[in-house]
Amino acid sequence: MTKRGKRKDWFQDWSNEYDATLGRMRRHLKMLDLVVAVSGVKDGDRVLDIGCGTGLLSLRLLDAARCTVVGIDKSPEMLACFRRKIRGMALGKRVDVRRGDAASLDPGLGQFDVIASTVTLHHVKDKLPMIRAIRSHLKPGGRFVLGDVDLDTTGDPADLKRLSRILDFLREEWMAAMADAGPDGFRRMFDNGKKHVFNDGEYCVSFREWAALCRKAGFDGVTVRPVVKGSRFKVLTAIK
Ligand SMILES: C[S@@+](CC[C@H](N)C(=O)[O-])C[C@H]1O[C@@H](n2cnc3c(N)ncnc32)[C@H](O)[C@@H]1O
Repeated sequence: MTKRGKRKDWFQDWSNEYDATLGRMRRHLKMLDLVVAVSGVKDGDRVLDIGCGTGLLSLRLLDAARCTVVGIDKSPEMLACFRRKIRGMALGKRVDVRRGDAASLDPGLGQFDVIASTVTLHHVKDKLPMIRAIRSHLKPGGRFVLGDVDLDTTGDPADLKRLSRILDFLREEWMAAMADAGPDGFRRMFDNGKKHVFNDGEYCVSFREWAALCRKAGFDGVTVRPVVKGSRFKVLTAIK
C-alpha cells in the first residue's frame, strides 16, 4: 500500500529490485542476448523496445550497434530506474525513454528497422490488434523480435490440466530463481508465478500461437528458436 492507501502496481513495487531478481537469472540474460543476436541490429538502425523496463534489453541493443533506441514502458517507476542507469553513460540522443502502452502504440512513434520486446507482450490480453500495430510501425523489411515463455496459461484457474502445465513450468522457474538470484529472487518469482495461475495480468500463449498471430497480421519469415536446446523460453523473429 502507498501512503495514500492505494494498492501499489506490481511493476511499481518490483522496479527497484528488478535487476537483482529477474535481472540476475541466467535464462533471462541468455534470452536477451539471443534477441539481440537475431535482431540483426546494425549501425544507423532505429529500434523500438516495447516494455523496456529497467533497460536490460535496450542497453544490449545499444551496445551491439551504433543504433538509436526508443524504449517504452507502461510503468513510470521502471522507466525511472532505466533513466537513472543511463544518466552517466554518455549515450546522448541514442536513447529515448518514454511512457507507452503496448496495447495502444502511439502513432507518433514513427517507423522502425527493428521492434523488439521481451517478457512484456504476454501482459496484453488482446494480442492480434497489438501485433498488427507493431507491424504497422516497421519499415518494409523491418524485423519484429519477441522473447518470452512458450506456455499457454489461458483458461480457467480451476482447470487441473492447465494448473499442472503451469506448475511444471513454475517448478523450473522457481528453482532457477533460487539458484541465480537467491531468496529475494525466489520470493519475487514465486509471487509472479501465482499471477500466472490466476490470470492476474499474465496471459501467456504458446509460441505456436504467437507465430500464427504474426502470420495472420501479415508478417513473413516467422521463425521460432529456443533460447537453449529444450528451453521453455523462445525467441520469435518475423519480417515485414
Ligand atoms: C518482466 S518486465 C520486462 C522488462 C524488460 N523487457 C526485460 O526483459 O528485462 C515487463 C515490463 O513490461 C511492462 N509492461 C507491462 N504491461 C505493459 C504494457 N501494456 N505496455 C508497456 N509496458 C508494459 C512492465 O512495466 C515491465 O517493465
